[in-house]
Formats: sequence, structure tokens, C-alpha cells
Amino acid sequence: LDDLVAEGVQGRTVLVRSDLNVPLDDDRNITDDGRIRASVPTIQALSGAGAQVVVTAHLGRPKNGPDEKLSLAPVAQRLGELLGAPVRLVELGTPLPSTAAGDVVLLDNIRFDARETSKDDAERGAFADELVALVGEDAAFVSDGFGVVHRKQASVYDVAQRLDAYAGGLVLSEVEVLRTLTGSPERPYAVVLGGSKVSDKLAVIEALLPKVDTLLVGGGMCFTFLAAQGHGVGSSLLESDQVDTCRTLLESGKIVLPTDVVVADAFSADANTKTVPVDGIDDGWMGLDIGPDSVREFAARIADAKTIFWNGPMGVFELAPFAEGTRGVAQAIADGDAFSVVGGGDSAAAVRALGIAEDAFSHISTGGGASLEFLEGATLPGVAVLEEDA
Ligand code: 3PG
Repeated sequence: LDDLVAEGVQGRTVLVRSDLNVPLDDDRNITDDGRIRASVPTIQALSGAGAQVVVTAHLGRPKNGPDEKLSLAPVAQRLGELLGAPVRLVELGTPLPSTAAGDVVLLDNIRFDARETSKDDAERGAFADELVALVGEDAAFVSDGFGVVHRKQASVYDVAQRLDAYAGGLVLSEVEVLRTLTGSPERPYAVVLGGSKVSDKLAVIEALLPKVDTLLVGGGMCFTFLAAQGHGVGSSLLESDQVDTCRTLLESGKIVLPTDVVVADAFSADANTKTVPVDGIDDGWMGLDIGPDSVREFAARIADAKTIFWNGPMGVFELAPFAEGTRGVAQAIADGDAFSVVGGGDSAAAVRALGIAEDAFSHISTGGGASLEFLEGATLPGVAVLEEDA
């Protein structure tokens, strides 16, 4: 981005791919604008330098073309508020409105066109050609949506092959921080993983185990590990087909599991709840959070660590009775002086929803899947294409 701005962008059209995939409530109010705020500096740098900025982004995973519920209209509104200037929303497939230097427009949900996410290179390529025709062949492309760089999609990958392409400030800073974790992190290096499914995290667990000193596991995924230790897990989330794999992973001796959990008789904020040791989960009860003893144990491990990566809530933090595990772990990371990276949409949203100061962490990543794939050592198409371009 600095190179592009230094070259001069006055009057040049710049297509910016941002990740503005934010959570909305039923009335389409944005419940966490972290990704929009993180996208502002790059857009502002370009607009301030006189570029005509065309932002492209997705929202959710539309299945059948344009869907009003997944329009980026609320995002355009919020982005305009943060930039201090209105951001016009442009319907896909229509020409750009005439703009002046410094103006910012936002294309509506790029996934309204199914070719964006097509696995067929030719289909994606044809869509990328249309995007290039929209902004003009002389436009520059800035890739700033770190949360989508693991996707080989038209607005992330194919346009970067067709236009003069640059890394945005957000992508650059995210990659630099995550590279410190894949390089030589200061030890002890602790990773805290939560979230619902162990199957989603297997690749990252396998990649991280040889590199970390401790892997603390909470969230729905801990119950498959507890089952692998021989515990009954009642009605908790269980991936039976992953139990053997979890048993093998436990042989590393690095995985720390909860010792107590908060169980409920229904998945509801009004459910009856109790805290039980992990060998005391009765039939009909489901674990929805880690318990206070586990939080103490996890916090002690976190306090010892010099480097921490955290991805995934420890429980169903959106429901108050099951928020304390996530709060306790987040607070322990925030209170320590380790180099701490929060990876991902849900964990980052949890930090903000629970009112924990964001600046207490060394870095809060905007990418969930992207940061995990980075740590796995996978090639991220949206980063690789920029490196090729460079
Ligand atoms: C995310 O929410 O992690 C990113 O915006 C990517 O979204 P996707 O998983 O739908 O590609």
C-alpha cells in the first residue's frame, strides 16, 4: 500500500478487496463492526491520496443470487460513518457512478454473483474480467481482506492476476504478526483452541502440536477429547468419528483439557445449569462452557507463557450463563505480558462483546479460517498471488 500511495494515486481508480463480513442481528443491525474498523485505514489512505476507491466485499454465503438480507447496505452506512463521508452502494452488474477523487463506493455483496466462489477457473476468470472492465484496466488492486485470503475467489485471487496488485496495510500487518508465530516464537508457546467442532481444527492441531509447548482445548470440541479419555459426555457435542484421532493427539502429552464444565439441560439461556467435574456429566445434560477450576488451570498455563495464540470461544459466550469460561481465558490473556494473538471472527467478537480492552492483546486478527490456515502452513491463494505479482 505504501508503495502504491508513494507512486501517486490521484485520480486513479483503486479496487480494494476488504473483509466486511460482519455479524448482523435479525433487524440487520451490525453487532460487531471490528472488521469494518480494521478496513478503514487502507481505504482512508487511498481516498486521502486522491484515489477513486471501489471497495468490494462479501457478506455471508448467499446461495441463490441477490438476497436483500445479505446486502451490504448496512455496511456501506457504517463505513461511511467511520470515514466521515457517505459511501455509495453500487448494485453488482451496473456501471460505477461518476465519482470525484477521494470518493469511496462499495460494490454490493460480491457473492451475489455465483462465479465469485466458483471452483471453475474459467468461470471465476470471466467474472474477474468483468470486474476489471468495471474499474478499468489501469486501475490498481489492493488486497486488504485478510479474512478471505485463504479463498481462491475472483475478487481475492483472479483480479490480483489481472491488475497491478498490492498488499493493503491490514493484510501486511496480519501476515507479519502471524509470521512471528510460525517463525521462532518466544517460549513457552501456548495455544488456546475452542469452537464447536474438532474436525474443523484437526489440521491446525496436527500442525501446531510439534511447535507448541501447551495446547489448551475448550469449547464444544473438548467433549470429543474428553470422550477419547473415556469420559461420558451426556448430550454434549460429540464427533464420534474423531474420537480415535483425538486419542492419538492426546499421546503428545501437550494437550490440556478442562477438569470441570458447566452443563445445561437445554441449549438456552433459561436452561437449568450446574458445574460438574468432567467425569460427572449425566445423560441428558450438555456441556456448554468450561468450569471455574478449568479456567484457573488454563489461566495458570497462560500466565507462564511468553507467546499465546487463541482461537475459538471456550463456551457459548453469547448466552450469559455460558460466558464465564471465555471471559476468564480472555481476561487471563489480557492480564499477562506474553505476545498474544487473538485469531478469528468469533474470538475477536467475544473480546469486544465481553468488554475486554482490545489493546490488552498484542494483535487481534480479523481472519478466523485465514489465520488458522496460515498457522497450518497452508498456501493462502490471496497472499501467494501478491507475492507472485511482486
Ligand atoms: C470469515 O468470516 O471468516 C471470512 O469473511 C471468510 O468468510 P467465508 O468463510 O464465508 O469464506
